[in-house]
This record gives sequence, structure tokens and C-alpha cells, in this order.
Amino acid sequence: SSNATTERPRHPGNGGETQQAPDHGAMTTAQGGVVSDNQNSLKAGARGPTLLEDFAFREKVFHFDHERIPERVVHARGYGAHGYFEATEDLSDLTMAAPLQEKGKRTPAFVRFSTVAGNKGSADVVRDVRGFAVKLYTDAGNWDIVGNNMPVFFIQDAMKFPDLVHAVKDEPDRGFPQAASAHDNFWDFISLMPESLHMIMWAMSDRAIPRSFRFMEGFGVHTYRLVNTEGKSTFVKFHWKPKLGLQSVVWDEAVKINGADPDFHRRDLWDAIQSGDFPEWELGLQIFDDEFADNFAFDILDPTKIIPEEELPIRVVGRLVLDRMVDNFFAETEQVAFCTQNVIPGIDFTNDPLLQGRNFSYLDTQIKRLGGPNFTHLPINAPRCPVLHFQQDGHMQTRGPKGRANYEPNSWTEGGPRADPKTGFRSFPEQVSGEKRKLRPESFADHYSQARLFYRSQTPVEQQHIADAITFELSKVETLAIRERVAAHLPNIDEELAARVVEGLGLAKQPKPHEPAVKPVDLPPS
Ligand code: HEM
Repeated sequence: SSNATTERPRHPGNGGETQQAPDHGAMTTAQGGVVSDNQNSLKAGARGPTLLEDFAFREKVFHFDHERIPERVVHARGYGAHGYFEATEDLSDLTMAAPLQEKGKRTPAFVRFSTVAGNKGSADVVRDVRGFAVKLYTDAGNWDIVGNNMPVFFIQDAMKFPDLVHAVKDEPDRGFPQAASAHDNFWDFISLMPESLHMIMWAMSDRAIPRSFRFMEGFGVHTYRLVNTEGKSTFVKFHWKPKLGLQSVVWDEAVKINGADPDFHRRDLWDAIQSGDFPEWELGLQIFDDEFADNFAFDILDPTKIIPEEELPIRVVGRLVLDRMVDNFFAETEQVAFCTQNVIPGIDFTNDPLLQGRNFSYLDTQIKRLGGPNFTHLPINAPRCPVLHFQQDGHMQTRGPKGRANYEPNSWTEGGPRADPKTGFRSFPEQVSGEKRKLRPESFADHYSQARLFYRSQTPVEQQHIADAITFELSKVETLAIRERVAAHLPNIDEELAARVVEGLGLAKQPKPHEPAVKPVDLPPS
């Protein structure tokens, strides 16, 4: 070896020789000093102990030792890409939202797709809900639409979320299953929580085993508000419609794919974008007013209910194109932080109790996951508009206030930024009143009608897939009473579905159906 020193003796075969391609820049330490030898630690003599003094060795190993950060508590396995949102309509009559002000306007975007239950290293093509999280770097700050590939959710109140997630993820004693819902705890929870049954129909359908991210729909799930410059509010539900249409694999394919290539969905997105085949979605809105909400059969604050597109058609207002992969998976896809509370003027929340809880949870978890309150400084999370405030200090601070002023009001000539009631975000002044209560509105209690609506909207083949999926999943449940408790819900959704599952599981007879709090009806009502 050419640059052997007396401290680092090299002999053929002792690991000192490497084959290097020419024309590299000089390797440095994190402090910028050029490294003379990246293969051999500093030793006292050829066979002596490694010396503490070898800062290049210690820095390399200490940094490696600290590479891992906590994975997300849910949606740990994900894959992201950059792109843009383009308005195909001027929606300024309905909202001030910056990306929707003029036809043709483009807003940079980052999207992360994910599974929910599995850990970071789990397989892609498992039966699960898929996350569909969109960050728009708008002129008025970041706006995140943190959605899923299904339009409803398992529970109606964020208070239940820790229980749902504990039940779906690995059981605490055995540490499995790592990525599937087919186990006792999950189905025990579901059988005891009938509000989950509409979502269960979606999760047992082909939607839960998408062919790739490019063939999935996305949904904001909750009802949000659009607010225009006059302060008028309109309700809205967000839909992403894939240009390629909706496609799934069948269960037997999914099982094989996971064995042969657990990264199937990642590879698909990478290959498509790298070869210039950019996936694209339409942004569709369901837009409605108070009168529609008051007359609708369900509460628009209930995230276990859809508004059927037949009743309220979708209006397409834009397109989302993904055209660039990340440079670094960790820096971007792992460290991106989406949050439902990241909204901009023109967008506002409703009182959906699931949404209200989410608004608390994401920032809270990210402060831990990303090591403190300054993760908005990371390029993937940083807004692409001016950011000026008096927040300072904390771990990993990169841009505290400049000059003397770090509070407001102050009397310094260079006194820093001020709030602006004209352009700033102002909450929609909804009237609210009522006793403090822990109860939900009564209409939240119809758990079966929309589950039936979904099941019956499926083709016969798709219905068979749902029956097969429930049968397969329950066949992995060891406790007979849990199998029976799930089966006792099914006649309230569809008698034939129930009969198929009862037969598939080899149960002696159909368990007596649960008495529904609200009798299911055939939808849509005439
Ligand atoms: C993560 C969607 C309900 C807590 C995520 C992600 C998505 C998502 C897409 C992954 C974001 C990413 O790719 O980084 C949804 C949807 C829900 C829902 C559509 C219901 C409509 C909830 C609820 C809670 C919650 C009720 C808590 C009360 C979290 C947490 C993370 C997460 C803590 C991890 C965030 C992080 O570490 O950055 N969710 N979620 N989610 N969700 Fe939800």
C-alpha cells in the first residue's frame, strides 16, 4: 500500500489494501479534516491495542452507533417521492388556499405512502390500510393532507386510537405478528368495537392489497372546511384518483410476492419514476353546505361514514404528479413529518373527534421521533416561504432570531415580525355551545348500514374475496369465542356473507346476531 505510515504498518493480506476507483474527493471527518486511512485504526505497534487518540476511528464508530431513531409508532414502513400539485381550476370563489387560486398554478409536493401496522422492515404487499400523506409546500406555508387509501376509519374518536393500534400490532408477550391483522388481539378488539365494521369491509376487500402505490386512491377521510376571502365556509372531503385506475393483486399473489420481493411496492415506485413514467392522481373534492350536511343520513363529523359519490359527485380541481425520487431515504422519507394541523388560510378543521385528536398526536410524537422541537428546519419539512418568528433555542437549532429582539411586542427599530390579521390564518368562527359531555351524537351508532352498502357495491368476485379474507383471517384466531363474536356481526351486514364465513370456518351454526343499536338499513335510501 502506498501511504502506509509507521503507526499503521501494512502487510499484504492484513486488510490494509483496498481497491479504490480514482478521482474521488478527499474523505474528511465530520469536522472537515482529511482522513488519511479509513481501513486501519491507530494501534500501539502492529499487534497492540487500539489507541483512544484515534479520533477518526472513534468518530466513525460513534456516529454509526447513533444511526437509528425511533420508527413511527404507526405507518413505520413507508416510501416517498417528490412532485407537484397543479390546479386545473380556479377555486378562489370557495377558498383562499394558495394552491387553488389560479388554473395552472404549480405547488411543490412530497408524498409518503405507507402501511399502518407493520414495522419498518416488514413486507410491502400485506393486507393493510395504506397511508397516503401529501405535503404541499405552498406560498402560505405547509399544507398537509394526511390520508389513507380508504375513505373511512376504524374508530370514531381519537381516545380509542392507542387501543386500536395496540390491538392491531404485535402482541406484547410474543412479539408477533409483525405486519398482519390476522390474530386474536385484533379481532377481539374489532368484535367488541362494532363501529369498526365498515372499515373492516374495506380492509378485507381487495383495496387492502394494492398492486402498487400507483394504483391506489387516497382520501382525506374527515370533513374539512374551505373558507373564502369573505369568510364563507363550505364543507369538503378530499379524494385522490389515480390516473392508472384502481388495481389490486389477489391474495395468493400477495403471499408469493412478499416471499420473493418484500420491497415490491418500493421497487415499483422507484422503477416507474426513474424511467420517467410519472404517476399521477386527480384531486377531487366533494363540496357541500350546511343544508346538505343537515339533511344527510349520517353525521358528517363521523369518520366511519362516507358520503356516497352518487349522492354528492366529485369535482376534479387539480392533479398531483410524482416526478422525482429522494436523494436520501433517511433524510427525506424517514424524517418527513406530516401533521393534520398543518393547514393554511382557506382550509380549516371540523369537529370530527378523530381529527381533533390527530391534531394533537402528530406533533407530539414527532417531537420525540425527530429529537426535539426544531425538526421544521430539516429541508424536507421546511416551508418554502418566509419563516419569521421568535421561537429560539432547543436541540438542533439552526436559525434563531437575529439581533436583539426575541419577544413581541418590542420597541426596537429592527423589531422583527408581527402578526398580520389580514393575511394570517383565522379559525372559522363556528358557533359552539353545549354541556361538556363524553357522549357522541346518536347517528354515530349505525355501524352496519354503510358496511352493507360497501359490501353490496362490490362485484360477485370481489364479494367472494371479502368472504375469503375474513375466513382466512379468522382461521388464524385461536380463540373460538372471538371467531364467533365476529361472525355474529356479519348477518347485520349481509346474510350471505355471514353464511360463507360460517361455512368457511366450519362453525357448527351461525352465532346469534348481535342486537344492533341502530337497525341497519339498505342504502342509499329512496
Ligand atoms: C401516522 C393517516 C388516525 C396518530 C400516520 C400516517 C398517515 C396517517 C398517512 C403516516 C404519515 C407519514 O407517512 O409519515 C391517518 C388517518 C387516520 C389516522 C387517515 C384517520 C382518519 C390517527 C389517529 C391518531 C394517529 C386517530 C392518534 C390519535 C398517528 C401517529 C403517526 C401517524 C402518532 C406517526 C406520525 C409520525 O411519527 O410522524 N397517520 N391516521 N393517526 N398517525 Fe395517523
